[in-house]
Amino acid sequence: MSVRPSWGSRLGVILAVAGSAVGLGNFLRFPVQAAGNGGGAFMIPYFISLILLGIPLMWVEWTVGRYGGIFGHGTAPGVFHSLWEKSRFIKYFGVIGIFGPLVIFIYYVYIESWLLGYAWFSLTGAFQGADARSLQAFLRGYQGLENNRYFQGVGTAYLFFLLTFGANLWIISRGVVKGIEWLNRWALPLLLVFAVTIAVRVLTLGAPDPAHPDWNTIQGLGFLWNPDLAALKDAKVWLAAAGQVFFTLSVGIGVILTYASYLRREKDVILSGLTSVSTNEFAEIILGGSIVIPAAFAFFGPSQIQAIAGSGSFNLGFVTMPLIFQQISLGALFAFLWFALLFLAGLTSSISLLQPAMAFMEDEFQLPRKYAAWVTGAVTFAACHPVIFFFHRGVLDELDFWGGTFSLVLFATVEIILFAWVFGMDRAWKEMHHGAELTIPRIYKPIIQYVTPTFLILILLFWLMQEGLPVVFLKNVSAANQPYVLATRLGLTLLFFGLALMVRWAWRRRRNKGRGR
Ligand code: ALA
Repeated sequence: MSVRPSWGSRLGVILAVAGSAVGLGNFLRFPVQAAGNGGGAFMIPYFISLILLGIPLMWVEWTVGRYGGIFGHGTAPGVFHSLWEKSRFIKYFGVIGIFGPLVIFIYYVYIESWLLGYAWFSLTGAFQGADARSLQAFLRGYQGLENNRYFQGVGTAYLFFLLTFGANLWIISRGVVKGIEWLNRWALPLLLVFAVTIAVRVLTLGAPDPAHPDWNTIQGLGFLWNPDLAALKDAKVWLAAAGQVFFTLSVGIGVILTYASYLRREKDVILSGLTSVSTNEFAEIILGGSIVIPAAFAFFGPSQIQAIAGSGSFNLGFVTMPLIFQQISLGALFAFLWFALLFLAGLTSSISLLQPAMAFMEDEFQLPRKYAAWVTGAVTFAACHPVIFFFHRGVLDELDFWGGTFSLVLFATVEIILFAWVFGMDRAWKEMHHGAELTIPRIYKPIIQYVTPTFLILILLFWLMQEGLPVVFLKNVSAANQPYVLATRLGLTLLFFGLALMVRWAWRRRRNKGRGR
């Protein structure tokens, strides 16, 4: 068996996990979710979800990943099988841990490429002086939603997609230490410096319009953080908070488990897991909360902020922010920093989404890294095309639903029940503390065993009823888009079963070679 790689240093693995967690979710998704779901009140279910779901799942994923690594497994089929050796079917549940990240990658990398494009346009002044309508047109033209004076077709977007895709593949083909760890060592600190610079600039804007002294960033922070406690009665707000915690921490996807499988057995997972959570929360609450909403409030005032915050993450990131940067000195530079920050945050997340597929082929089929990269690259490259060319047909939303929402909650539920109940809570607790530099407060033992799984099952049920079933039955899909959405579903089904067949094949080989778990 080929030797599995190990992280070069402790800081390296923490930066890699934090790099996977810190992404577009921190700077775009979080402020939109918070502003739209009760402002400061949103932080109550957010912190409850962080304490009862996010942190325990982070510890569990680090622990099960490290455990699976002992048996040479770096992806969920093998890791789950190591935890429950007697079961013949559990490895097939693990397929979600390769399928989910691949599906997210397919659309995430395309959005990431827009950021590279916009970073470039900020430098070349392509949208310099454009007003809100023109910036909207610029974005729609770039996305291929309309032909206009800025863009004819998606040629430019495709070029930046090729560059972004190539960068992802190149990094991943260099392996865990020379690729993933190398990138995160410089990109994560750099993007945090960019984010701090922009946040400081925004918070020192004061009141940019002398005619409206109350349109200022402090009031903007007030808009974001003043609690509307009535919002807590709404189940939707709780679901949104739990969903944000999942998305932002990258838990339940399958990637943290893969990263942790490259740890040696004696390495700590508790303090390291907590450090990666803390880094992500700093980037989310402190930095993510101090940029888009306070800036938009200071420039557009209380009457428009609600509509702006409700116009979605893309609008905020690609229209509102460039508009604001045009009105401050050195605006082009700040616009570049903004898009470069988002691009790097996206890149450190997207490479983590590719790694499970890579690890699966390397661990279970002993495929050399370069070939694994070619196979992963060929499959994802082909799959990105429907997202690019049928963007307006709802393909991206469909992928986000199955890969970025449903899979995460289901995967996390299976994972924690397996760990706490099948592997056994006493063994689990011992395994978590093996080599640990910090003891987890004992209260977390019943939390992991009872509270987190119950919370997850409730979320799954509520969410299925509120949002899942309407999507499954194509309730909000126009008749014109239905064939595209159904074709996407067919593609996803083929991908899932293709991966399941590969798992079956891998275990047959294992059995024939007489290898244990
Ligand atoms: N955790 C990543 C993000 O927040 C996926 O964007």
